[in-house]
Amino acid sequence: MKIGRVTLSDRASQGIYQDLSGPEIERVVRECLDAEAEFVALLLPDERIQIESALMDLADVEHCDLIITTGGTGPAPRDVTPEATRAVLDRELPGFGEAMRAVSFAKVPTAILSRATAGTRGRTLIVNLPGNPRAINDCLLPIVPAIRECLLHLR
Ligand code: MTE
Repeated sequence: MKIGRVTLSDRASQGIYQDLSGPEIERVVRECLDAEAEFVALLLPDERIQIESALMDLADVEHCDLIITTGGTGPAPRDVTPEATRAVLDRELPGFGEAMRAVSFAKVPTAILSRATAGTRGRTLIVNLPGNPRAINDCLLPIVPAIRECLLHLR
């Protein structure tokens, strides 16, 4: 399986702090979805056009089966990941965002600030996760069965 992992953060992309969320995605995917997965890793600022073109490239040129983004899903003016994602999706799968907010809200009341979504572009599944490294485990683990099933349907 080929997986694009994309970290969206102005500060991490400027080297102000380290990207911990991208490597955390890789750890959880290897442990729970596919130990042999090949990753394409990107770290980008919160720029909508750059995000859209990276997602299109990962789906259409790199032929990733799955793209997981982290960051840029909140209500701050620079948070544009859901908008960029929706712009490149053929079909939205709103259940992913709904499930992540529901499972996280039970332990983190601020979880509902994430506008994360998901959907398909061709045969690629694209899933947004919030940016907090702790959120990766909370949000990704419960949706692994649906990701696995969705990838089967797309093939
Ligand atoms: N979900 C989980 N599980 N854990 C978290 O710490 N942080 C929330 C939310 N979802 C959080 C979470 C907060 S405070 C925000 S602002 C939103 O995710 C959006 O974060 P992002 O803009 O970094 O994607």
